[in-house]
Amino acid sequence: MIYLDNAATSFPKPEPVYQALDRFARSHLANPGRSGHRMATEAERTLDQARHTLNRFFNGEAPERWVFTLNGTDALNIAMKGAINPGDHVITSDLEHNSISRPLVAMELGGMISLTRLASHDGYLDPDELRAALSPKTRLVALTHAANVLGTVQPIEAIAPIVREAGALLLVDAAQSAGVVPIDLRATPIDLLAFPGHKALYGPTGTGALYVGPRADLRVWREGGTGGDSKHPVQPEELPYRLEGGTPNVLGVAGLAEGVRWVADRGPEANRAHEVGLLQKVIDWVEGNGDGWRVAGRWDPATHVGALSLIPPDPEAFPSQDLAMALDSSHGIAVRAGLHCAPYIHQALGTFPDGTLRLSPGPFNSAEEIETLLRALTEMTAGVL
Ligand code: ALA
Repeated sequence: MIYLDNAATSFPKPEPVYQALDRFARSHLANPGRSGHRMATEAERTLDQARHTLNRFFNGEAPERWVFTLNGTDALNIAMKGAINPGDHVITSDLEHNSISRPLVAMELGGMISLTRLASHDGYLDPDELRAALSPKTRLVALTHAANVLGTVQPIEAIAPIVREAGALLLVDAAQSAGVVPIDLRATPIDLLAFPGHKALYGPTGTGALYVGPRADLRVWREGGTGGDSKHPVQPEELPYRLEGGTPNVLGVAGLAEGVRWVADRGPEANRAHEVGLLQKVIDWVEGNGDGWRVAGRWDPATHVGALSLIPPDPEAFPSQDLAMALDSSHGIAVRAGLHCAPYIHQALGTFPDGTLRLSPGPFNSAEEIETLLRALTEMTAGVL
């Protein structure tokens, strides 16, 4: 299988991640913090070390500000439902995944908030348009860092100070950027940073994290056991336990921490450069002899992660979903087609409801694999035209 669906989840994981998962599962997989025995203490230590690892990697304020979550969606829900109050104004964009759009639209339809959705231009947000949309009632600005359909990296360094100056909170969805685009939480005023652990940080599925900055005082929305002082009738005040009710996925976190260390050793830019280099071959093919294929959004290798959406030459005759199925069944190539859980950007692109064919290579893909993909696409295009 040629796996080009790393934007959905990365595969394969680096070897040290598999080793860490195996080691931890066989020796320390007790319930962290719930019992005082050595295995439980060791499991708790694994969580603590992972919080330190994340805090160093993203230069956060303190390890306890890192809350482990089930995935990116879980982290975003904890952030949004914990921060937003009735009557608030919230700003988002047309680039967002449903994990941001759906909770916000549900709040808007329920009459709880007013919502502004900024339009992107060729895949990029304009900081001046964000500035104009802010009002004294704006409580939260919730934006993706890198668009999952297009791979375009948003100017968060320009956006963050504008949001801070307006007194609102900034929530950044780093699902497609964490691990490939450097994020410095002390240099860039981001209040809430959410991401899954299973994409470019190379943890297993079922992992994610939310960074809660000092300005963000989140209401609890999942209450339960924290393993600490059980005498308290309600959730403890202190982070991370306040937002971590229930037994955490400590096995997954052991793998995630190893993934973060692997990325930190190489440097995020090394993986991004490799993936963008592979996508450049696709761009060259589209521009050279792509038989009518088009690229969605603007291609700028300096502000792109390893995800690229292609619009087929005759989308009605040959929808992207059919192409993806044929790539899988006839060529052994895994890609993701359709709407990618991000309907608003497809509406803006004019690719709704069929969507696009998204390619997302990872650090283990080779130039030869991309050539195989391009040969397969060329064959298919010859069949349709
Ligand atoms: N959000 C993931 C994707 O873009 C699943 O494919």
